[in-house]
Amino acid sequence: NWKLTNYIDTTIAEIKEKVGDQKVILGLSGGVDSSVAAVLIHKAIGDQLQCIFVDTGLLRKDEGKKVMENYGEHFNLKIKMIDASERFLSKLKGVSDPEQKRKVIGNEFVAVFDEESHKIEGAKFLAQGTIYPDVIESQSVKGPSSVIKSHHNVGGLPEEMDFELLEPLRELFKDEVRKVGEELGIPHHLVHRHPFPGPGLGIRILGEVDEDKVRILQEADDIFIGELYKDDLYDKVSQAFVVLLPVKSVGVMGDERTYEYTAVVRSANTTDFMTATWSRLPYEFLDTISNRIINEVRGINRVAYDISSKPPATIEWE
Ligand code: XMP
Repeated sequence: NWKLTNYIDTTIAEIKEKVGDQKVILGLSGGVDSSVAAVLIHKAIGDQLQCIFVDTGLLRKDEGKKVMENYGEHFNLKIKMIDASERFLSKLKGVSDPEQKRKVIGNEFVAVFDEESHKIEGAKFLAQGTIYPDVIESQSVKGPSSVIKSHHNVGGLPEEMDFELLEPLRELFKDEVRKVGEELGIPHHLVHRHPFPGPGLGIRILGEVDEDKVRILQEADDIFIGELYKDDLYDKVSQAFVVLLPVKSVGVMGDERTYEYTAVVRSANTTDFMTATWSRLPYEFLDTISNRIINEVRGINRVAYDISSKPPATIEWE
C-alpha cells in the first residue's frame, strides 16, 4: 500500500526532525492507539522514547505482563511499568457511585503519571495516541450526552504539564491507525482489540470495588474473551466483556449449597458506539462460557447474558 508506507515514512521523518536528540515520554495503555503511536515513534527515534505503563490493578487478566512481552520484548520499546494497583484500590475503598469511581480513577491516574513522568530526566516531549475522532470530539460543543457519563479517558493528561505534545496519529481514523499498526508489524489481534474503558474493571464491578472482586472478574472475562477467539467470534463483535454484579444467589455444586456472585456476559455490535445491538451469539457458545465460568471461577455461581440494546441501555453497566 503506497499511501500507507508513504504516510509512515513522512511521519517518521517529521518526528525525527521535530524531536532531534530530545527525549519523549508516552503513556502506553496497551490499547490500539497508544501502541501504534509508540511503535511508530520508536521507529523514528529508538530509545529516545520512554514509555510509561501504569498498572491500575483494574486491567484485564495479565495485561501488564502481556504489554511487556508484546511491546517491551518483541518491539524493544523502553517501558517503565508502574504497579499502582494498591494505590487505586485504596482510593476506591468505600466508593460505589459510578461517576465518583470514574473521578477517583481518573485523578489517581493523572497523579501517578505526573509523578512518574517527572522522574524521567530531561524529557521534552509528551507523545499521545490522539486520533482524528478525538480531535473532533474535543472541538465539538458537548451535548447532554457527555453529561450522562464523563468519558474520562485515562490516556488523557493534565494540561498543566509543561511538555510539548507529539501526536503522530492526529489525522487518522481508527481503521487507518489499525492499518499503520499492521504495516509496522504489530500482530492482527493487538491491532484489532476491542476498546477498553479508561476506568477499566472499576466500572465493570458494580458498586464497591475490592481485590477479590477484581480477581473474580478478571478470571471470568479471560474465559469469555478466550472462547470468542477460539470460535472466531472476537472480530465479529465490537466489544465484549463480563460484568460482575454484587448480587449473590443460591446455587448447588456437588452436594453443597453455594451462595455466590452473578456474572453478566455482555457483547455488543456497533459501528459508532452511539447505538448498539446485543450480539446474537450462538446458544452452544453461551452454554460453553456459562459452564466454564461457573466451574472454573470461584466466587461466581450464576451467569446471565445481557440482551439490551443501546439506547436505552448503555454498553457498559456503569
Ligand atoms: P457506553 O457504556 O456509554 O459506552 O455505551 C460507549 C463506549 O465508551 C466506552 N466508555 C468509556 N471509555 N472512559 C473511557 O475511556 C469511560 O469512562 C468510558 N465509559 C464508557 C465504552 O467501553 C464503550 O466502548
